[in-house]
Amino acid sequence: MQYAERLKRLGTETAFEVLVRAKALEAKGMEVVHLEIGEPDFETPKHISEAGIKAIRDGYTHYNPAAGFPDIRRIISDDINKTRGINTNLNQVVITPGGKPIIFFTIMALVNEGDEVIYPNPGFPIYESVIEFLGAKAVPIPLREENDFRLDVKELRKLVTPKTKLLIINSPQNPTGGVLTHSDLEEIARIAKEHDIWILSDEIYSRIIYEAKFESVSQFVPERTIILDGMSKTYAMTGWRLGYGVMDEKLASWVSRLCTNDHSCTASFAQIAMGAAITGPQEDSRSMVEEFKRRRDVIVDGLNKIKGFSCKKPLGAFYAYPNVRGTGWKSKELADYLLDKFGVAALSGTAFGHLGEGYMRFSYANSVENIKKALAKIEQGVASFKH
Ligand SMILES: Cc1ncc(COP(=O)(O)O)c(C=O)c1O
Repeated sequence: MQYAERLKRLGTETAFEVLVRAKALEAKGMEVVHLEIGEPDFETPKHISEAGIKAIRDGYTHYNPAAGFPDIRRIISDDINKTRGINTNLNQVVITPGGKPIIFFTIMALVNEGDEVIYPNPGFPIYESVIEFLGAKAVPIPLREENDFRLDVKELRKLVTPKTKLLIINSPQNPTGGVLTHSDLEEIARIAKEHDIWILSDEIYSRIIYEAKFESVSQFVPERTIILDGMSKTYAMTGWRLGYGVMDEKLASWVSRLCTNDHSCTASFAQIAMGAAITGPQEDSRSMVEEFKRRRDVIVDGLNKIKGFSCKKPLGAFYAYPNVRGTGWKSKELADYLLDKFGVAALSGTAFGHLGEGYMRFSYANSVENIKKALAKIEQGVASFKH
């Protein structure tokens, strides 16, 4: 049996693999605390689910336009205008099954083989996977702890070449919780303009933010920014598969054609629920973020008390990203050890790129009780290390 050559360049998301391993350990009777997967542990707010159920009853069970229902695209475009302070229209919006397809489709629509794409490292692993899968060159921009996990704009300037076609940024960031500042974004926009580079701005955690203020690079260069956002994180709707991209109108029509070729359209009733999520009450979403903040403080304080760990306070998203070099262990070995021997499922920093060595990612989308349980197990695990 032969498979296509390009498969050799396809990466993956380790979180799903660790989840499978953790479930297998549970099936054998081990108690596992799940801090590996990036999904809110809350229910989808009731009014949103009810809107989806009603939509099924009302007959929203057929195909719809590839880019999504115009009314829902208008709701998204209005929301983007309000939250990002820009001026978009519904023809710039493409609704997709989750935010992830926007990564795939925009890279496919913008980048030729051999072109260069700059992306954050450590970062969401799908960026590097898709860039390489499509035959482009993945150029990592390091996110360093000493710079609060923000990219260094001077370094960015040095990485740009005549082949650079696209820059991917993600703020608030997975896995570090770093948030780009107003002046970072201004300078990134300047570089993009000077060198005629597109920016894919992954804003999926835009509303899961604590002390910092969310800002979008689109305020500076709306014409060359693709905003990626969606329902998964903000409204605890990961399984509904609802996301969108907001971009240049011509690019939107190409991305929409890719949708036609790929999945035809996003589920009709789910889109009605998305409209209800954006236009309806926001209290549930806000209290979820408050709870995340409470948990963040618990996990960060707890991790900082463990020998060999030091953890900066993440400003957004729901991941703690401690430096674990002080344990003397490699990240992956440590992650495997904590899962296999102590039932704490978390990810090695290297699941987010080679620059993640020396770090681990703990998702705090879990109860305070479970977080405390995990902290006790980690402490016990670290104390039992024998090199
Ligand atoms: C940075 C980032 N971008 C995009 C996504 C995709 O989310 P979804 O496809 O569920 O909208 C995720 C999910 O983990 C993420 O962490």
